[in-house]
Amino acid sequence: MFCCMSPDKEKEPTRLTDDQKRIIQQVWSEVRHQIDEVGVETFLRFFNTHPEAMDSFLVFKNMEVVDLETSVQLKEHALKVTSVVDKCVARINDPKSFETICRDQGINHAGRIVTDEFQRSLRDKYIEAIKARTSVAWSAEHQEAWETFFNLMQRDMMNSMRHMNALRDRKE
Ligand code: HEM
Repeated sequence: MFCCMSPDKEKEPTRLTDDQKRIIQQVWSEVRHQIDEVGVETFLRFFNTHPEAMDSFLVFKNMEVVDLETSVQLKEHALKVTSVVDKCVARINDPKSFETICRDQGINHAGRIVTDEFQRSLRDKYIEAIKARTSVAWSAEHQEAWETFFNLMQRDMMNSMRHMNALRDRKE
């Protein structure tokens, strides 16, 4: 398995509790039919706070943030990413499949500029967009469950992306 554990990372949860899984499934079942809106809102908020991230995207690199609101490409990209989130929720009780999906995304992102800060921000924007669409009374438990869910997704993804980048650097 890929290894890049720092002392801090060792303290991070490595799995979701059953209660957290229930929270994720309950909330997602309610907002899933708005998957397009969740994705678009997330990416609009993300690019608003991190316009520099647009440079990593061929399709957005020469666009202004204000043009994104009506961009078909933004909609398409947001749906692709949010469909991965949807797949991970569907495999929440199957850690191997969950990990495979995220690791494949890591391979897919090798060579791209994807920082921990971008990942954290995208996570937080997703949670804001999801929270805005659920009728459940949002609590600290809801926040923690969703943060852990995205942290696990992004941890597997980043580990595999860094592994691929290291292999590529060694070949050069
Ligand atoms: C939960 C985290 C993320 C997931 C699940 C995810 C998923 C995806 C997916 C499904 C694609 C489309 C791949 C394809 O068309 O074959 C994509 C493309 C891409 N992602 Fe991510 N992504 C995540 C986070 C990020 C972050 C934080 C960045 C950094 C800004 C990033 C940068 C990119 C870039 C540059 C592309 C290529 C877009 C293009 O076609 O030009 N991703 N991502």
